[in-house]
Amino acid sequence: MSNLPGNEGKSKYVRETFNSIAKRYDLINTLMTLGLDKSWRRLVVKLSELKEGGTGLDVCCGTGMLTIEQARAAGPAGKITGLDFSENMIEVAQQNIRDFALKENIWFVRGDATDLPFENSFFDCATVGWGLRNVPNVFKAVQEMTRVVKPGGKVISLDMAQPTAPVFREFYWLCFDRVIPAVGNLLSGNKKAYKYFYSSARGFMRQKELADLFAQAGLA
Ligand SMILES: C[S@@+](CC[C@H](N)C(=O)[O-])C[C@H]1O[C@@H](n2cnc3c(N)ncnc32)[C@H](O)[C@@H]1O
Repeated sequence: MSNLPGNEGKSKYVRETFNSIAKRYDLINTLMTLGLDKSWRRLVVKLSELKEGGTGLDVCCGTGMLTIEQARAAGPAGKITGLDFSENMIEVAQQNIRDFALKENIWFVRGDATDLPFENSFFDCATVGWGLRNVPNVFKAVQEMTRVVKPGGKVISLDMAQPTAPVFREFYWLCFDRVIPAVGNLLSGNKKAYKYFYSSARGFMRQKELADLFAQAGLA
């Protein structure tokens, strides 16, 4: 377990936010992505080229849905670790794998994405789903993922892109700003958390900026 960044305002706010919505997270995530979240996670794992018997890391694993996809790809000889700093999200993740055939191959660790408690070059791949935009120092998180992945291994971030097409862009942000907080409020009673999703998505870097940052961290 690594040190938790309790003194950083954003980290504290983010941890409390996810702790407060953990029980409803999976349902609302699926509604927000119109059910596409599962296929996106499968695509990420396919792109990660994680093989049978492989060793994978899922940073900001939340309720463990991407971690589970990694475990499916790595099979019975695989070793998969999910890391998150929200105790309630990890608790739901533990519940989510209770009846999963490969649960013995999954470890959930509480820790901070910017200070990974793993050795250099330990994993075959690292993924992060909708996580980087929550981290105060995105570069440090990407550097850490790069450090713990073996040379030649994949580091993959899954997130919402910033839309550019004029009419679609307005509709997209309207949904994020109005519809999602209303639905989130209805299902979890926590409108503020879903307003945070809007601001974190809106304020997150564009694809090109993120790709440049990956390159600066040493990724090809
Ligand atoms: C939107 S959820 C994503 C969950 C999951 N990856 C998925 O596929 O649905 C973001 C997660 O990132 C975690 N998180 C945010 N900042 C973090 C940090 N600095 N270190 C570890 N976890 C963090 C939150 O606790 C939350 O569970």
